[in-house]
Amino acid sequence: MGITSKPVVFAVLAAVVILIGTTVTVFIPLFMPSTQPVSAYIKPYTAVEQEGRDIYMREGCNNCHTQTVRPLRTEVLRYGEYSKPEEFAYDRPFLWGSRRTGPDLNRVGGKYPDSWHYKHLDSPQSMFEKSNMPPYGWLAKNRLDTQYSFKKTSTLGYGYSENDVQQQIAQYRGTVTDERYPSKESRNNVTPTELRKEITEMDALIAYLQKLGRDVKKMEATK
Ligand code: HEC
Repeated sequence: MGITSKPVVFAVLAAVVILIGTTVTVFIPLFMPSTQPVSAYIKPYTAVEQEGRDIYMREGCNNCHTQTVRPLRTEVLRYGEYSKPEEFAYDRPFLWGSRRTGPDLNRVGGKYPDSWHYKHLDSPQSMFEKSNMPPYGWLAKNRLDTQYSFKKTSTLGYGYSENDVQQQIAQYRGTVTDERYPSKESRNNVTPTELRKEITEMDALIAYLQKLGRDVKKMEATK
C-alpha cells in the first residue's frame, strides 16, 4: 500500500512539504540582509527633505518624471551613473515612475544651484520656451507645514528624535534665510516678504531635489 491510497496522510505530508518550501523560498530571504542591500553612504532624508518628497508626490511630479536611470549607454551618458538598489532603501513608496514627459530626476541633486530651481519651478517656460512643465510658483507662497514632520520620520523609521527633527528644520531655515545664502536673490524673487524668514513648500521641495542621487555621487567618488 503506497502513500497515494491514504488521502489524509498524503494531504498532511503535502502540506508540510509546501510549508517548508514556502519558508525556505519566502520567509528566510525576507529577513536575509543580502536581499536588502544597504550602503553606509546612503542616508535617510532629513525632515525637510521628507516634507519636500511629500510635496513632490502631492503635486504628482512623478507623473512626468522618472527616478531611475537604467543601465543603458544612452541613459548613463545623459544622466550619470545608473540607479543601484541600495539607493532606494529609504524610499517608501518608490517614485521610480514610468512616464518620461520630463527628464529623469534620479541624478538631479547638485546638478544645478538652488537658484536655478527657484527660477525653474516658478516658471519653466522662462528657461525653456517650449517646456510643458506647469509653473509651481505658488509653492513659494505656502509656508511649510511641519507639524507632522516628526511623526513622518518616526513612522518611516529614520531614527530621529523629536529634537533632531526640530534641529533639522531650524538648520534648513537658517540656511535659506541667511544673508549669505548664494541663492538669496532668486529665492526673494519668488517668495513673498512675509515668508522670507520661514521655510516655504518650495524650499522643502528644492531640498528634496538636491538630495536626489547625491549620496551615490559620494559613493562613486570614493571608489
Ligand atoms: C506635465 C509634465 C511635468 C510635470 C507635472 C512636472 N514636470 Fe518637471 N519637467 C517637465 C519637462 C518637459 C521638463 C524639461 C523642460 C524643462 O526643464 O522645463 C522638466 C524639467 C524638470 C527639471 C529639470 C531637470 C533637468 O535635469 O534639467 C526639474 C528639476 C523638474 N522638472 C522638477 C519637477 C518637479 C519638482 C515637479 C513637480 C512639482 C515637476 N517637475 C512636474 C515636465 C513636467
